[in-house]
Amino acid sequence: MRKIIVNTLDKRSRINRNIYGNFSEHLGRCIYNGLYVGEGSSIPNINGMRTDVVEALKHIKLPVLRWPGGCFADEYHWKDGIGPKAGRKRMVNTHWGGVIEDNSFGTHEFLEFCRQVGCEPYINGNLGSGTVQEMSEWVEYMTFGGESPMARLREENGQREPWRIKYFGVGNESWGCGGNMQAEYYAHEYRRYQTYCRDYGENKLYRIACGPYTDDYDWTEKIMPMVKDFADAITMHYYAVPKGKWENKGPATGFTREEYYATLQAAAYMEELVTKHGHIMDKYDPEHKVGLIVDEWGTWYDVEPGTNPGFLYQQNTMRDAMAAALTLNIFNSHCDRVVMANIAQMVNVLQAVILTEGDKMVLTPTYHVFDLYKCHQDARLLGSFAETEDVGGVADLSISASMDSEGTVHVTAANLDADRRLEIELEALGMRVNSAAGRILAGDMGAFNDFDHPKDLEPAVLEDIATAGGRVRFMLPGCSVAEITVR
Ligand code: AHR
Repeated sequence: MRKIIVNTLDKRSRINRNIYGNFSEHLGRCIYNGLYVGEGSSIPNINGMRTDVVEALKHIKLPVLRWPGGCFADEYHWKDGIGPKAGRKRMVNTHWGGVIEDNSFGTHEFLEFCRQVGCEPYINGNLGSGTVQEMSEWVEYMTFGGESPMARLREENGQREPWRIKYFGVGNESWGCGGNMQAEYYAHEYRRYQTYCRDYGENKLYRIACGPYTDDYDWTEKIMPMVKDFADAITMHYYAVPKGKWENKGPATGFTREEYYATLQAAAYMEELVTKHGHIMDKYDPEHKVGLIVDEWGTWYDVEPGTNPGFLYQQNTMRDAMAAALTLNIFNSHCDRVVMANIAQMVNVLQAVILTEGDKMVLTPTYHVFDLYKCHQDARLLGSFAETEDVGGVADLSISASMDSEGTVHVTAANLDADRRLEIELEALGMRVNSAAGRILAGDMGAFNDFDHPKDLEPAVLEDIATAGGRVRFMLPGCSVAEITVR
């Protein structure tokens, strides 16, 4: 019998709902066919946005969506994506597959998508190949409410009222695809560019500076003192690649047990990254005014055989669900610093929550983890402890606990052991436990949903749960994740 102890008297920071954000890029079939099919499509849509995808994202309460990249962001010139579609520039997407980008999905379309889903837009500006003026005018175009050249242009394009834009990123991976800059150089550029991203009227931008890749602690050390007074947050990117072997990442399906645990080890590394970058941030920002945004994370494997290597299309199995469950528990437990996270990517790319093919849609096991974890959005993190054992180089039980505004306690628990079931006893200190219920996602480590079997893996009611003597007992089969509600 394993113990989980949740201390309801130990209320910590609020778990920012934006930890459950997603990322969408002009990459492969993420935007086109993924979320946007165009007004004339036979696939059900509203203003060109896939109705099935919009509804699925509403169900998991998607809080925030990042766009247009990624590496694409630093090649994106926003004026190419406004105005009558027939006149929009056709360009080559040099980063991703060398395909034609017709710019039919631009600023208006992205903000319409966010409106339909009910999520906050997070726009990533182009510092790598764009000018200060271009970035400044994009902010003016979107948010200026009075008489100005960009406000007039917006109105000519059919949007009289300004949009409300909060989250604005200034460059992406500026140490790499976003310009191969050195840290100090980027920090100077960041300070200059963000100066001209104005707050117009009531609209207050939340300015986001490009932070490190993975364990580049030097980048964090160098930029923090230079950007901390000009940025609300810095970013961090990390992808879980089995054994860190980029040249041979292995397949998304049909993997071995060894690859399963190697992937979870890679995902578990997020704990160290967030902790160490957090410690550096603490030195320069002890009051935690500057947030850490992990705006690209997820598993990364070899592309599906026969697909365009530049499209980064991969299937999604229970292994990915376990990696997501573990990572989201880590983010929850660091919610005093991690204010947003954006899984890469939302549809048809890398660790996608949704896959589409023509008019068909599949919700992946990772999607269902976001569904199970939505209970944590904006709840207070609670102190918690889980008794664990090592399996394949990772702790076999990963948990987090929170209390929502009504006093209900939510515990998410993942049994990372591919095979062995765990009998668990949960004790909630400081509360009288009247009832407990749960939902569970379980399956073989290699199981997945596909277009012929879209519902093989779905959360089910957790039958194996009971309360006795103020404690909750439940069973987690190998390779499963559950959400337990305690009242
Ligand atoms: O998500 C795919 C790519 O990975 C992004 O465009 C880039 O920012 C990162 O290197």
